[in-house]
Amino acid sequence: MCGIVGVLGNHEVAPILVEALKRLEYRGYDSAGIATVHEGRLGRRRAVGKLVNLSDRLVHEPLAGKSGIGHTRWATHGAATEGNAHPHQSGPVAVVHNGIIENFRHLRGELVREGLSPQTQTDTEVVSLLCQSFLRQGMGPVEAATATVARLRGAFALAFLFDGEPDLMVAARKGSPLAIGHGEGEMFVGSDAIALGPMTDRITYLEEGDIAVITRAGAEIRDAQGRSANRAVERVALDQTRVEKGGYKHFMAKEIAEQPGILKDTLDAYVKEGRIALPGAADAALPFADLDRLTLVACGTAHYACHVAKYWFETLARLPVEIDVASEFRYRQPPLPARSMALVVSQSGETADTLAALRYVKEEGVGVGAIVNVEGSTIARESDAVIRTLAGTEIGVASTKAFTGQLMVLALLALRAAEARGTLSAAEIAGHLAALEAMPGLAHQALQLSERITEMSHALSEARDVLFLGRGAMYPLALEGALKLKEISYIHAEGYASGELKHGPIALIDRTVPVIVLAPRDALFEKTVSNMQEVMAREGRVILVTDAEGAAEAGEGVWHLVRMPALPDPIFAPLLYAIPAQLIAYHTAVAKGTDVDQPRNLAKSVTVE
Ligand code: F6R
Repeated sequence: MCGIVGVLGNHEVAPILVEALKRLEYRGYDSAGIATVHEGRLGRRRAVGKLVNLSDRLVHEPLAGKSGIGHTRWATHGAATEGNAHPHQSGPVAVVHNGIIENFRHLRGELVREGLSPQTQTDTEVVSLLCQSFLRQGMGPVEAATATVARLRGAFALAFLFDGEPDLMVAARKGSPLAIGHGEGEMFVGSDAIALGPMTDRITYLEEGDIAVITRAGAEIRDAQGRSANRAVERVALDQTRVEKGGYKHFMAKEIAEQPGILKDTLDAYVKEGRIALPGAADAALPFADLDRLTLVACGTAHYACHVAKYWFETLARLPVEIDVASEFRYRQPPLPARSMALVVSQSGETADTLAALRYVKEEGVGVGAIVNVEGSTIARESDAVIRTLAGTEIGVASTKAFTGQLMVLALLALRAAEARGTLSAAEIAGHLAALEAMPGLAHQALQLSERITEMSHALSEARDVLFLGRGAMYPLALEGALKLKEISYIHAEGYASGELKHGPIALIDRTVPVIVLAPRDALFEKTVSNMQEVMAREGRVILVTDAEGAAEAGEGVWHLVRMPALPDPIFAPLLYAIPAQLIAYHTAVAKGTDVDQPRNLAKSVTVE
């Protein structure tokens, strides 16, 4: 959600900034801009829309300089116009920002009374104006930037660049992530390690409240109290920063296809000699045997992974589970019993609401673990125990492989809980584990459905509304299927528990509303088929996704049948049925011609509330 980058380099910096922004574009793509210092003067170029518009502009209007900052925007305050694009410049200072300045109206009022004139509708502009005001009062750049940051409320990652200071950048972090990269006689800042991947693998993550004064010789970091702070330089593994489509048309297609490998890697990492073997620290921090309740908190797709896991923990380990979306949980002040713990789940590890939920749980004095994909992310660093999902970098805005990675980790945790609580015998656990071990192969088979799904997605792409139905653990997968479809194809879609159909949504059914029924052959299958018949009796067009044998058994007269591989253990069906749900969304979006990897209005890594 807004990506920022900064470089104090030894070469012309504009192409380096653009390359880094390309790697950050998944965070926002409403507009982009860069500013450099050349011959002592700040210059900037900005363009509305995708980064390619900025690159084109730079071809015609190049920008020289060896130090610079850049930004790719996801608009919060002010429309996506060139004037509102970052960097914001006020006289001798330019600023890029990720986050929200909550007291910007108050500050803007003060600055206007002082005679400064805001030119944009953004919250960020008050940062450059305030800094300009402090510079006018005679402060030096570092002092002015520090004084500015001290006045800001809200969430921010900031980088400042100054006229006449080609060897200086000031960076600050509160609430939004920021990393400093160390090169050879060069220094960098970026919203994440991915942005800095081609430049360096040596990264320092700033902590909350840190301000860094960066020159080509290194970074001096001060903490929130103004004390000198020694922050570690970490090496980032190459696979954490790799950003390639690998021959696929879209990142999303590549990421869907990677799922069998990811499921296998997860099993290899967390199952040893037929037993669940979590990292030692994580195992010690998850006292499943002593819990009366487990709270699972996340946003969006990660929340649906938690919702699926509720069925697993409750059925397999008889452990009551409360799930909540982080944006509600954080303000609800939920009581957390002493014999409980929480798990937060996040691909990015930076989602503002999930991070706030984690902090709330800690303040309540209850243990909290995190299931996180991005190593070194804020949520990973702040939780008591971390279990990594091993999905690798996910670039497509619609989460796919991270979701199934989360599901696999949660399935293993549910089995671990069952083991600790003695609710399943060793043989039963071994049986469930064997079913999970079969998942990578089954996922590979499910991917072969891509062609079949492409055929029917053409018709689906003409729908205005689509319903997804599922029962049991397939109900949250129906919610996830609907989310995937709406976010990348812009078709309105809703997920429902099949049994809820009669309680309202059946009123929507006619032949224009396709109904996608996710129905593995499990104990609830017949009930789901009855619900499906109710749809067909009202001329509803059903797409049935099932492993049930024969169309007769599954219910004659369906519009399309997507035949899934048979499952040894239907309880884990959501892991496998996620794949057709993703393929339906993907191919429908391709048929509609939408921007699959960068759908409108969305951004990955939601670092604002
Ligand atoms: C949907 C999607 C989002 C994220 C949500 C949480 O496809 O990707 O709903 O799941 O924004 O993000 P993380 O997992 O990074 O906390």
